[in-house]
Amino acid sequence: MKISIIVAKAANNVIGKDNQLIWHIPADLKYFKKVTSGHCVIMGRKTHESIGKCLPNRLNIVISRNKDYQTFDGGVLSSSLQDAIELARSKGENEVFIIGGGVLYQEAITLADKLYITEIHDQFSGDTFFPEISNNDYMEISRFEYPKSEQSPYTYSFVNYIRK
Ligand SMILES: NC(=O)c1ccc[n+]([C@@H]2O[C@H](COP(=O)([O-])OP(=O)(O)OC[C@H]3O[C@@H](n4cnc5c(N)ncnc54)[C@H](OP(=O)(O)O)[C@@H]3O)[C@@H](O)[C@H]2O)c1
Repeated sequence: MKISIIVAKAANNVIGKDNQLIWHIPADLKYFKKVTSGHCVIMGRKTHESIGKCLPNRLNIVISRNKDYQTFDGGVLSSSLQDAIELARSKGENEVFIIGGGVLYQEAITLADKLYITEIHDQFSGDTFFPEISNNDYMEISRFEYPKSEQSPYTYSFVNYIRK
């Protein structure tokens, strides 16, 4: 089973502020849906609360150290990233997606096989960050750049990396 990370990050690695996304980029939301639909998604408890529901057509695995935590309807609780990954594997998953947030990405970047990065070519102020992507660990394999449009008020790129 492939372990993948998917994230939208600013040029200065900001990914969120006050437990919310900072930007609204319909093209990126469509891309996220297309890439992750039908797969298991793993997220931190704060990201789950930020989304405010379970994402449809995906098994939503929520990580918390609180064993009594109640996920939104349809969510499955897990006490660690490793347990969440094993749960996805036990479902016969071929590619599991770690969808945030900052705390989870920090741990997951040490073990992910593939990164789906939306680079937003602007700086933002925020309180949550994506870790640096090390050239020693990951190799860029594709990059598609898009101009500003109705689908995005910012220029952005969809970039894929695989572990070396
Ligand atoms: N731009 C993007 O693509 C993107 C994607 C996702 C999220 N975000 C943003 O990121 C922000 C949220 O990220 P965050 O870093 O604050 O929180 P987070 O990573 O979503 O959640 C952190 C929580 O997850 C649980 N957790 C994390 N690692 C764990 C582990 N190894 N074992 C057990 N539990 C673990 C803990 O929950 P308990 O405290 O319950 O134990 C922890 O407090 C928001 O602003 C959101 O909008 C951005």
